[in-house]
Amino acid sequence: MDAAAAAQPNIALIKYWGKRDDALNLPAAGSLSITLDALHTRTAVRFDAALADDDVVLNGKRDPEQTRRIGAFLDLFRARAGVTTRAHVETANDFPTGAGLASSASGFAALAVAADGALGLGLTARELSRLARRGSGSAARSIFGGYVEMAAGTRADGTDAFASPLLDAAEWPLGVVIAITMRGTKAISSRAGMRASQLTSRYYREWIASVPNDLVTARAAIAARDFQQLADVSEANCLAMHAMMLAARPALIYWNGATLDCIQRIRALQADGIEVFFTIDAGPQVKAVCLPGATATVAGALRAIGGVQDVLISGLGGGARLVERRG
Ligand code: DP6
Repeated sequence: MDAAAAAQPNIALIKYWGKRDDALNLPAAGSLSITLDALHTRTAVRFDAALADDDVVLNGKRDPEQTRRIGAFLDLFRARAGVTTRAHVETANDFPTGAGLASSASGFAALAVAADGALGLGLTARELSRLARRGSGSAARSIFGGYVEMAAGTRADGTDAFASPLLDAAEWPLGVVIAITMRGTKAISSRAGMRASQLTSRYYREWIASVPNDLVTARAAIAARDFQQLADVSEANCLAMHAMMLAARPALIYWNGATLDCIQRIRALQADGIEVFFTIDAGPQVKAVCLPGATATVAGALRAIGGVQDVLISGLGGGARLVERRG
């Protein structure tokens, strides 16, 4: 059988950075994100009894490491379906891969939905979120659209570690402006960076302990559509994560000069009364979240910064979905 799915990346406002279990990819704390609408991953999966191995084409290329990771992920679905059939997977992003734009989030969310469709498993969104988490923690959130919260859970088997939707995109539309300050793949993957933080940062435990309070504040801000409250808690959470990363040995410095220039520019816009805030993940790109009416002003201001190579503009969008199914 044959199925294709689409999903969008999400941007965490309350960050996931740290695991309580590596094998099941369980987060050490919860997280909260917004799903975008303008950037997409499209993934087609075809199970084929004639194949001896999985065949994975990512953005037109075959890569042994990606094939291994995607094959291991598909094993979870094969086990559910009670089959061993190998698959052909074709996946493509319409945005830069591996540059701190969470291509693994939309990637594993789209793959989960496509694999479920191709095998006819009919899993629930919650079950797909749990499975997507095994591919990448942030992917659990891209199963859903709009505002999404990921639960850390407490169970050792991970059955309570899944994402849930908080609010639809249309209920509180926001704009997102992404300033690309570096092209190409980041230096240290999220996975390696999380491990290094946990093992070597003197602030790791404080960071993890601080997340539940930030989640309470962010959840309340979203329920009340309180932009200022969401801005304050999101910036504080992002900066606390980066402060903890800076204290790792060796230090994890994901920013470049243009990253800091963007932060300063956004602070100047805030001083001028523009409703915008920044957040930064494991890379040097800056994501500015704003009210939809401010998007053009924010994009213009960030585009004018030397070192900003490109600016992407998005709104908030829906969750991962099947776009085609045959067989
Ligand atoms: C900084 O989901 O890529 O973007 O579970 O190891 O695959 P793995 O990590 P990943 O980490 C995302 C980290 C982040 C913050 C976030 O999206 O919450």
